[in-house]
Amino acid sequence: MAETSLSRILEKVTSRNQLSGDEIIYLLQLEGDDLKQLLNQADRVRARMLGNKIHLRGIIEFSNNCRRNCKYCGLRQDNLALPRYSLAAEEIVAMAGQGAKLGYRTIVLQSGEDYYDAEKIAWIIREIKGQTDSAITLCLGERDYQEYKLWRAMGADRYLLKLETADPDLYHNLHPDMDYQQRRERLAWLKELGYQVGSGNIIGLPGQTEETIVQDLLLFKELDLEMVGIGPFIAHPGTPLADFKNGSVAMTLKTVAITRLLLPLSHLPATTALGSIDRQGRQQALRAGANVVMPNITAAEYRSFYQIYPAKICINEQAVDCRRCIGGIIAALGREVAVDCGHSPKMV
Ligand code: SAM
Ligand code: SF4
Ligand code: FES
Repeated sequence: MAETSLSRILEKVTSRNQLSGDEIIYLLQLEGDDLKQLLNQADRVRARMLGNKIHLRGIIEFSNNCRRNCKYCGLRQDNLALPRYSLAAEEIVAMAGQGAKLGYRTIVLQSGEDYYDAEKIAWIIREIKGQTDSAITLCLGERDYQEYKLWRAMGADRYLLKLETADPDLYHNLHPDMDYQQRRERLAWLKELGYQVGSGNIIGLPGQTEETIVQDLLLFKELDLEMVGIGPFIAHPGTPLADFKNGSVAMTLKTVAITRLLLPLSHLPATTALGSIDRQGRQQALRAGANVVMPNITAAEYRSFYQIYPAKICINEQAVDCRRCIGGIIAALGREVAVDCGHSPKMV
């Protein structure tokens, strides 16, 4: 494809929000000034469609128990070196209350794929909704339809379930005990139940190619996701993928930017993983189409046990430190913290 194609492709995707596989490959290979042009265009689309506000989602990582063995993740069941914890329901509600006091209008409840009791989760959701005016996002992995239904009925607003890759063979290699179709089916259930649905991928997974990233991007579009989480792979020493290299910052930013152009109204986080491999990673993503940050509000004493990857940022900070830090980052970018819940503009 000729180099002069860039302006034409950016014009087309900005007006129609569509790209072919070949056009995505072309964008994924951009470098130098051409790459800057892509990132700037995504930033302009973000500004035009969603404005200057950044949504903060306070995340509570309430349990690192996991029955799965995703090959990349430090929480995998076979990582026996990791001390495990699970917070009591009352502790989780108290942390959410502190998050709400810091101004977070969304509380994210995340865990490994734990056997945390569904009724207890329902109670936690009801309490948080009763005591705060925050929205609730769940990120608890694969559960039964009836459990998703119960939590939605209790007031949960959103659900994040990353596919990690849209390539079924790669998915199977990385998740030997899981099933790609089963994960897709759960995304369909969540949508049917009225959740705002998020998914996403990991950039730089061993075995991933530009073609598989194209598959990911086309699937994000097909599923018309309300939220898309895109972060780099970070090799964890306690996993079978310890010796592989980390995903690249540039490829992660390109994928964020293309997602913004394909899905102009979706919420895209500047991920903690990107901030962990590059101190300016989140800032760069916020200038390449991202409009969300997920500061940690888990009590400091548990943070070091939720290292899904090494050198995770915010391990030694308290919730209040992260709030201050994020406020500074947002102000330095000339942006503002949103004061509303930040529901998907596609659903309201
Ligand atoms: N257990 C739930 C699940 O897998 O859906 C939610 C928690 S899981 C820790 C959250 C996300 O962490 C995963 O979706 C995955 O994208 C990310 N993750 C895990 N290990 C990672 C690694 N080594 N590098 C980058 N991201 C990783
Ligand atoms: Fe468990 Fe989620 Fe990590 Fe997979 S990614 S091992 S399900 S915590
Ligand atoms: Fe936690 Fe910066 S966001 S220290």
